[in-house]
Amino acid sequence: LNYHVPRTRREILEILLKGLQRLEYRGYDSAGVGIDAGNGKDWESNAKSIQLIKQRGKVKALDEEIHKQQDIDLDVEFDVHLGIAHTRWATHGVPSPVNSHPHRSDKTNEFIVIHNGIITNYKDLRKFLESKGYEFESETDTETIAKLVKYMYDNRESDDINFATLVERVTQQLEGAFALVFKSVHYPGEAVGTRRGSPLLMGVRSDHKLSTDHIPVLYRSSGKDKKGCSALPRADQDTCLFPVDEKAVEYYFASDASAVIEHTNRVIFLEDDDVAAVMEGRLSIHRIKRRAGDYPARAIQTLQMELQQIMKGEWKVDLCSVENNGDHIKEIQRCRRLILIACGTSYHAGVATRQVLEELTELPVMVELASDFLDRNTPVFRDDVCFFISQSGETADSLMALRYCKERGALTVGITNTVGSSISRETDCGVHINAGPEIGVASTKAYTSQFVALIMFALLMCDDRISMQPRRREIIQGLRVLPDLIKEVLSLDDEIQKLATELYQQKSVLIMGRGYHYATCLEGALKIKEITYMHSEGILAGELKHGPLALVDKLMPVIMIIMRDHTYTKCQNALQQVVARQGRPIVICDKDDYETIKNSSRNIKVPRCVDCLQGVLSVIPLQLLSFHLAVLRGYDVDCPRNLAKSVTVE
Ligand code: G6P
Repeated sequence: LNYHVPRTRREILEILLKGLQRLEYRGYDSAGVGIDAGNGKDWESNAKSIQLIKQRGKVKALDEEIHKQQDIDLDVEFDVHLGIAHTRWATHGVPSPVNSHPHRSDKTNEFIVIHNGIITNYKDLRKFLESKGYEFESETDTETIAKLVKYMYDNRESDDINFATLVERVTQQLEGAFALVFKSVHYPGEAVGTRRGSPLLMGVRSDHKLSTDHIPVLYRSSGKDKKGCSALPRADQDTCLFPVDEKAVEYYFASDASAVIEHTNRVIFLEDDDVAAVMEGRLSIHRIKRRAGDYPARAIQTLQMELQQIMKGEWKVDLCSVENNGDHIKEIQRCRRLILIACGTSYHAGVATRQVLEELTELPVMVELASDFLDRNTPVFRDDVCFFISQSGETADSLMALRYCKERGALTVGITNTVGSSISRETDCGVHINAGPEIGVASTKAYTSQFVALIMFALLMCDDRISMQPRRREIIQGLRVLPDLIKEVLSLDDEIQKLATELYQQKSVLIMGRGYHYATCLEGALKIKEITYMHSEGILAGELKHGPLALVDKLMPVIMIIMRDHTYTKCQNALQQVVARQGRPIVICDKDDYETIKNSSRNIKVPRCVDCLQGVLSVIPLQLLSFHLAVLRGYDVDCPRNLAKSVTVE
């Protein structure tokens, strides 16, 4: 929303589309935009009608669609304007223009809304609204919100009801998770955003000094409107944000900071049930009532993030730093059990480090998929320490599991890559893995950095244990040489590309290993599934004889990971079992392991590191292989079909 910052429609659309492109990692099956339709000189009359443009496919397709529209005058200048835009990952209803956001209240676009999340009671709401004569055009849960806000407006008790109050009334009827932004022809130049369960932040850009760096939260109980109706209080000079000398200010609502960082690094993270309203260039934050423990103001934070950090770039080997978590380490040392909870690749980082965590902490360690952990109502106690591993820090399943563990009194630790994310804010302490923003959907450098962060945590847990010192020194030395060894593995790229040319027309790939490398098998198979759409399975070599061996014949591609650690002999047995069934395994092994090299028809030789870190090296050939397979099969490596980088719905 630009307020007394003159912008042409072209600039406004560019800002919206660029912002969407930065958020494409959240979903990219369709996109849409809603802007003021008028072409006159007066911004208020221009805002009396709204134009929606929506398209299936990526943001680029929406951009092309906008430029095809004959009736859009891109040179019209707006002194004040609010535009909203959305990129979708379909939950309810197939990707199509009509199911894309913004959704509208009616054919004349009185109210429009964009939504991230899932409304679980949308069927009941839809039934109710249909009984009141509302006609639905899409299959989405979101459309009920657009209709509901109009219903609230049409049934308002007073003409001067403010936009924030309407939105608040809507959210009281909603169940599920949401981040929402509304725009309406009835409230020109005004924007309202709110969230529950899904992230939403605001960026503020002004060349002028701002009136405050903390916006006090306004609670409904503190004020009633003129007619004594229940309404959110209006903001005054002391309870809102505005630029002091001049009015010129621009506000941005976004699901994450990457969408706004090129315009401003001053942001406000909204909390669940905050209703943020911009009216006459002023931002105020409202809530229904004060809850115990609520912080009664929202700070304007300055983000230390550069634009180039969030763009795709060259390969870079980045390792994390474990920040000082002070007394929490002592508390963790006294706990009874560690539980690592995550989804997808982050879960595999937990599987990869479980053994060394058990060894160095001498504690029982459970590794859990967040969704299953919740489905089972897993018992959690006050003396448990629960880790939430998440690249984005926003994965809904992991976030829900975090809240579940907090309610049960466990100490919570975040291992995230996104400063300011929900998980990093809601955990008691944690580690920022500092891998740099990861944009491609298939996680690679975040996996490696999570892996290393967990090992560094394990080292911290036993730094005063005399008996552990030799092992600690060995691992620390391993960490020192790891970046060079990673470079050495990356130099195998040509060889792996060649292997990909032999495999890319196959239907299926099995990946087998055990011990420290079981996680590599799972992660390698996930990478292949995600970006090549080939079937791939990570198999624990110890389980081979209990079933998967039936899949092996001379045609089935099999990759085996055999490293010289405590499982070496058992891995050799598995290799023999595969060879005896005429399988011709491709072996990832230690470069000095002449025995294995001799027994395998095809091998990828990697340098040797300390056993518990070897998984950082063994996964790289599989990451590279999946990349080359995807390229050869002609698929988009960064944006695989049906997936999203960050899944903020359960
Ligand atoms: C999505 C992504 C995966 C990722 C998983 C967990 O499914 O496509 O690549 O591993 O979410 O994400 P997180 O951000 O919590 O690590």
